[in-house]
Amino acid sequence: MKSVYVFTLGCQMNVYDSEQIVRLLHPLGYSSVDDPEKADLVILNTCSIRQKAFDKGFSFLGRIKKRKKDNFDVIIGVGGCVAQQEGENILKRAPYVDFVFGTSAIHRLPDLVRRAENGEKISDTTEDGEVIETGGNPNLPDEITPSGFVSIMRGCNNFCTYCIVPFVRGREKSRDPNDIIEEIKRRSLKGMKEITLLGQNVNSYGKKDDMPDFPDLLHMVSEIEGIERIRFATSHPKDLSDKLVDCFKDIEKLCSHFHIPVQSGSDRILSDMNRKYSVKHYLQRIEALRKVCPEIELSTDIIVGFPGETEKEFNDTLSLLKEVLYDNVFAFAYSDRPGTRAQSFENKIEDAIKKERLNNLLDIQNEITKNKNSAFMDKTVKILVERQSFTDNGTLVLNGRTFGNRIVHVEEPLSTLFENKKFKGEIIDVQIVKTLGHSLKGRLSEVKS
Ligand code: 5AD
Ligand code: SF4
Repeated sequence: MKSVYVFTLGCQMNVYDSEQIVRLLHPLGYSSVDDPEKADLVILNTCSIRQKAFDKGFSFLGRIKKRKKDNFDVIIGVGGCVAQQEGENILKRAPYVDFVFGTSAIHRLPDLVRRAENGEKISDTTEDGEVIETGGNPNLPDEITPSGFVSIMRGCNNFCTYCIVPFVRGREKSRDPNDIIEEIKRRSLKGMKEITLLGQNVNSYGKKDDMPDFPDLLHMVSEIEGIERIRFATSHPKDLSDKLVDCFKDIEKLCSHFHIPVQSGSDRILSDMNRKYSVKHYLQRIEALRKVCPEIELSTDIIVGFPGETEKEFNDTLSLLKEVLYDNVFAFAYSDRPGTRAQSFENKIEDAIKKERLNNLLDIQNEITKNKNSAFMDKTVKILVERQSFTDNGTLVLNGRTFGNRIVHVEEPLSTLFENKKFKGEIIDVQIVKTLGHSLKGRLSEVKS
């Protein structure tokens, strides 16, 4: 058997795509390994959302270049958003790369790899008119995990002025609902209990294609036997309908967590970002969510240092954080992306100021997250165990998430009570004994008397 190592950068969609890459290459005789030094085929799945992610891809290639020198037969492939954006340029910049495949070319990978095995250099960045997902193919092997991702739509029509996604992932295309349901059913039969529905803007699922809309799809997924938890990412506040809000009341399996990127707390910056909502509208949506589901946990994305952002506008973002009190925030310094509208905006903010604002914001949010976490002290929560291991001294370690998406680590000294017990894939009660900055520590409720 030949071996493939896939290195994944970027978002959850890339994680899903990397899983598809491994499935697709199985019939060609490749099995997945977790050491690039041992692989016959090395695939890099890239991200171009910010310059840092873009650079990370090339630095990985720099490291893997030596393998090609030592063993000319190793095949190196580059996929994902940078591949879509740069195509042939990658073959010029890194001549040791054998093939490049864009965001729509994943399903053509078996053919591309066969050709690369025969010494051909290829760049395939052709876009398809429709979504071709391989996740629905029952003849490919599945990795069995308690929690999984499924793509429900691809691309984005929103053209936020800072964002490269519409350029590298194309226009919005929704996947056939029956194909989605079949894939989730198949994987749930194999033991998957939690599913995260993925798309750049899942709230607009089906809208353009005369299909069930997103809330309808959530109801359909909730009827699948074996699925106990449903999550989704990512949403756009302008498309957060009352019908979707009601799902948090009506669908028991829908996890009490909403990732709702706000990006900025200033109306002027939101308008320059082309976000198409005001802070007031956003806060009303949060209020509606909290009304139907008071325990809902909220997370968001923020960009600091967008071109022209004044100190006052940055402070408006801080005020918003203090008002909403998010459970988790992903904050980024604005990064110029080629071809986006914001790239040509004037009044770019200096790197040092962006860094200062980012640190300032993270300090405030870390305190909020810490306080939110401390409210869990001594409480009993239900976690889905995603990983189970034993340390060298025999301590049982479990990792999982609560219904509201909080990360929980459990450590139990060796005990005959659970020596041969399988926890992975189970939803168990855990008592929180310590709260940390970004996670919780627990003990098994039934063991701790
Ligand atoms: N610079 C900084 N952050 C960005 N994001 C998207 N584009 C950029 C950019 N050019 C952030 C947004 C988005 C998240 C996935 O990445 O906050 O929600
Ligand atoms: Fe990018 Fe905006 Fe589309 Fe999200 S909604 S992918 S931020 S363009």
